[in-house]
Formats: sequence, C-alpha cells, structure tokens
Amino acid sequence: MNALEKKFRRIEPWVGLAEVQKQLHQGGAFLVSVDKTGRPNAMTIGWALLGTAWYQPVLLVLVRPSRYTHGCLVYSGEFTVNVPFGKMEKELEFCGEKSGRDVDKFRELGLRWEKGREVSVPVLTDCELIYECRVIAKVDVDPTEIISQEVRTKYYAQGNLHTLFFGEVKAAWQARPES
Ligand SMILES: Cc1cc2nc3c(=O)[nH]c(=O)nc-3n(C[C@H](O)[C@H](O)[C@H](O)COP(=O)(O)O)c2cc1C
Repeated sequence: MNALEKKFRRIEPWVGLAEVQKQLHQGGAFLVSVDKTGRPNAMTIGWALLGTAWYQPVLLVLVRPSRYTHGCLVYSGEFTVNVPFGKMEKELEFCGEKSGRDVDKFRELGLRWEKGREVSVPVLTDCELIYECRVIAKVDVDPTEIISQEVRTKYYAQGNLHTLFFGEVKAAWQARPES
C-alpha cells in the first residue's frame, strides 16, 4: 500500500457526485496542474461538471485563458481536482486570488500532497475527494454560441472566455475515515 492508498480508498468516479456539487457551491475545490518546469500550482474552481461523455467518466472544468493554470493544462494535458468538505477556506481563498505566475502557492500555503497514481500531477491529501484526470478534449467557448444574453453580459463582458477542458477520470479517491 503506498502513501496515497493509506489515506484514501479508490472509488467509482460518480460516487461523490452530490458532495462535489455541494462543495463547488460552498467555497470551491482545488484544480491542480503542473507548469513546464514541473512546479505544481493550485487554483480554486467553482464551476465543474462530473458526468459521462464518449462512454467515459469525465470531469469538465472551465478555465479562463488569463489563468496561469490554463497554460499548464494545455502544456501537460493532465490535472487533478481536489475537494475539501467545508474546510481549507483560507487555502481556497488564497488559491482563488493569487496567481501561480507570481507566487508558489504550494510552498506559501504548505499544501500537503502526494504523487498521483494515474497522472503526474500531485493530489492534495487534506481533501476528502480526489479526481485524477487526463484531458481528452478542449473547447474554447465561442461568444456567438452563447444564447443567453444574461450569461454573455454577466460573465463575458470583458471577454476572456473560458476553455472547457474535458478530463477523463483515470482514478477517483475518497479519504478513509480517521482511525
Ligand atoms: C470561489 C472561486 C471560484 C472560482 N472558480 C473559477 C473557475 O471555475 N474558473 C476560472 O477560470 N477561475 C475561477 N476562479 C478564479 C481563479 O481561481 C483565480 O483567478 C486564480 O487566481 C487563478 O490562479 P492561477 O493564475 O494560478 O491559475 C475562482 C475563484 C474563486 C475565489
């Protein structure tokens, strides 16, 4: 049993669906990627979809091109989504405010991590649910395809339209109850 398996048990990707959605609404989750130098970076996300596409378990994340994370995802094609339950508020705030371009968030926050099992991106071991993903498709949001006037004006008045990264879920993990 490696260090990850000591703390987490492997689950089917859809098992934690309700909890993931709840946490996205109540503080967010950590999207972790690595840059070209291999340095990991975490950004807070509030939007993500867990489901099925192309008969595969997929986790879809929406990342604006201005984020440092965007380049990391395009470069490495892998990411992890790490979901704390009603904790790590300070870390979520920091990772949603600061950019990996300017600061090493892992070091600054002392984030605890382990190597991913299926991808070469770290996972955050203080979280309750973890998803290891490989990008299988990416789609840039086309402004002419946004039908809702409200969505267009509310979220895209300044442009910077999201890229949708479809991550095939290669492994999902749930924290074991503390003994
Ligand atoms: C609660 C919360 C949710 C967020 N959700 C998203 C999101 O889903 N997509 C996105 O592109 N940015 C989102 N952000 C903004 C990024 O987390 C923020 O710009 C971050 O500094 C980017 O980090 P990076 O430059 O290191 O990638 C969110 C911020 C917060 C506080």
